[in-house]
Amino acid sequence: MNFFLETVRAMLLSLWFNLESLVFLVVPRKRKNISGEVVLITGAGSGIGRLMAQQFAALDTVLVLWDINQEGLKESARLAGAAGAKRVHHFLCDCSDRNEVYRVADQVKREVGDVSILVNNAGIVTGKKFIDAPDSLIEKTMEVNIMAHFWTYKAFLPAMIANNHGHLVSIASSAGLIGVNGLADYCASKFAAVGFAESVGLELVATGKNGVKTTIVCPYFINTGMFDGCQTKCPSILPILNAEYVAKKILHAVLTDQVYLMLPKSIYLIAALKNILPMKQGILLGQYLGAFNVMDDFRGRSKKQE
Ligand SMILES: *[C@@H]1O[C@H](CO)[C@@H](O)[C@H](O)[C@H]1NC(C)=O
Repeated sequence: MNFFLETVRAMLLSLWFNLESLVFLVVPRKRKNISGEVVLITGAGSGIGRLMAQQFAALDTVLVLWDINQEGLKESARLAGAAGAKRVHHFLCDCSDRNEVYRVADQVKREVGDVSILVNNAGIVTGKKFIDAPDSLIEKTMEVNIMAHFWTYKAFLPAMIANNHGHLVSIASSAGLIGVNGLADYCASKFAAVGFAESVGLELVATGKNGVKTTIVCPYFINTGMFDGCQTKCPSILPILNAEYVAKKILHAVLTDQVYLMLPKSIYLIAALKNILPMKQGILLGQYLGAFNVMDDFRGRSKKQE
């Protein structure tokens, strides 16, 4: 094709894709049927992980739940069973340990079969100024929040590629799009998670494996306890999110093959503005919205767990 025709094609398709998006603002997108799919959720023993497990369960899926916390894990498995899962399997797994991730992944493949929906959800937060953050916690943050994504992809993506069917779900954070003072190691891990999921997603597109979908979730603070004590100055623009609401939105994004899910909606605008406004104005607006003080009263979860 010559360059002129390619240009015309790109312009017409661009127009078409924009019209299509506009139509889908009013017409609901079709949800896919995931009945019988094997859904693995890391960090399923609490918070969003547990809520997603219940929501996936209600869609007649086989659930594989991982967590480091035995009690929380068992309770999530019970709740998922009650919510209507086809079957529920649960495995203790410390996602900060590569060998353990590979070992438990092998066990899952033997005992349950190929995973077709992988939800990398396990996450931890240090919540200290960078200089005060212990090296061990910085390392653990990177191991759980991003390195575990590498190892779970290595373990479960080959089967998805072979079947040209699957879905990779990365529970990242709006802190993976915008830096936050007091969350340097967390932001580093979440920026990495966003970049990783986006890049592998593009690798799949580039190799024509369009049956393997990617969803990248970037929420603001959620009321699960992980960020207890954190403040929001402008709840109308940046509300602390309700966990049930977030889980529901994530499920909807997966079922409609939505690639990016930012919550609340203002994050789409804030992330875009960050790259185009003058730096001084960005900082001014950040101060105005209280972004510099969100971590001032951080307590986090009282009990040490995922
Ligand atoms: C979804 O798929 C399953 C089999 O994979 C089928 O039994 C079921 O009827 C389907 N549900 C809908 C609503 O299409």
